[in-house]
Amino acid sequence: MAVVDLSGKVVVITGGARGLGAAAARAVVDGGGQVLITDVLEAEGAGTAAELGGAARFIRHDVTSEADWQAALEYAVAEFGRVDGLVNNAGIATGQFLEHESVEHFRRVVEVNLVGVFIGLKAAIPLLRAGGGGSVVNISSAAGLTGLALTAGYGASKWGVRGLSKIGAVELAEARIRVNSVHPGMTLTPMTAPIGIQAGEGNYPGAPLGRVGAPEEIAAAVAFLLSDAASYMTGAELAVDGGWTAGLTVKHLTGQ
Ligand SMILES: NC(=O)c1ccc[n+]([C@@H]2O[C@H](COP(=O)([O-])OP(=O)(O)OC[C@H]3O[C@@H](n4cnc5c(N)ncnc54)[C@H](O)[C@@H]3O)[C@@H](O)[C@H]2O)c1
Repeated sequence: MAVVDLSGKVVVITGGARGLGAAAARAVVDGGGQVLITDVLEAEGAGTAAELGGAARFIRHDVTSEADWQAALEYAVAEFGRVDGLVNNAGIATGQFLEHESVEHFRRVVEVNLVGVFIGLKAAIPLLRAGGGGSVVNISSAAGLTGLALTAGYGASKWGVRGLSKIGAVELAEARIRVNSVHPGMTLTPMTAPIGIQAGEGNYPGAPLGRVGAPEEIAAAVAFLLSDAASYMTGAELAVDGGWTAGLTVKHLTGQ
C-alpha cells in the first residue's frame, strides 16, 4: 500500500537489510521511488533489494567509514542518476546500567549511531544541494526524547541524533534540504526480538496504545517526511511510539 507519492525520488537508506530500514525501503518503492539499501549485512541486504525488484539496489556500507559513504553515494548516482533523500537508519542497541557500561562500548555505540549519521549527513549535502534540495530523515528513538534505563550509549547517541537533525535543519534550509528526526517506540524487529516482546493488542503496557509498533508503522512516517507532502517540515521530531513519550497512563501513575 503506497502511503505517499515518492515517484521520481531516489532515496538512500542505511541499515536497510532488515527491520525498520527494510520496511522504509519497501515504502519508498511502494510510493514509486527508487532506493539504495546499504548495510554491513551483505546477504540480507542483497536479498531485501532483490525482493523489491528493479527499483532497488544494495551496496555493502559501514556507516562509520567515510570512504564507504563516498562509495555508496557514488553508486546511487551511477545507478539512479541523483539522490533526493537519505534515511540515516543504521544503528546498534545493546546497553548496560551506567555503572557497568564500559567506555569502549559507549564509544562504539556513539560511533555507529551518531558519528555515522554525521558523516552521512555531511557527505550527502553536496549531492542534495546539486539536485536543488532534498529530505534527510534521521532515525532517533523514543530514547532520544526521554531517559531510558540501560541505554547510556544508545540514549546519548539518539539525543545527539535529535540535536544534529536540528542543526542540519537550520543550516541547510537555504539549500532546500529538510532534516527531521523520527523517534520510534518499541517496535518488533531483529533488534528488539531478544527482549521477548510480542506483537498484538494488550501485549505491551509500556505504551499507552498497549502494543508494540510494526516496522511498517514507522516506515509510513519516514515515507511522509521524504515526500513533498512534508514540504513545510524541517527540524521536527516525529514520535511514532504508541504514546510512550506523551506521558503516563493512569495505570502507570497509580501502579494499578
Ligand atoms: N526496533 C525498535 O524498537 C527501535 C526503536 C527506536 C529506534 N530504533 C532505531 O531504528 C533503527 C533501525 O533499528 P531496527 O529495529 O530495524 O534494528 P535492526 O538491528 O533490525 O536493523 C539495524 C540495521 O543496521 C545495520 N547496521 C548496524 N551497524 C551498522 C553499520 N556500522 N553500518 C551499516 N549498517 C549497520 C544492521 O546490520 C541492521 O541491518 C536503529 O537506528 C534503531 O536504533 C529502533
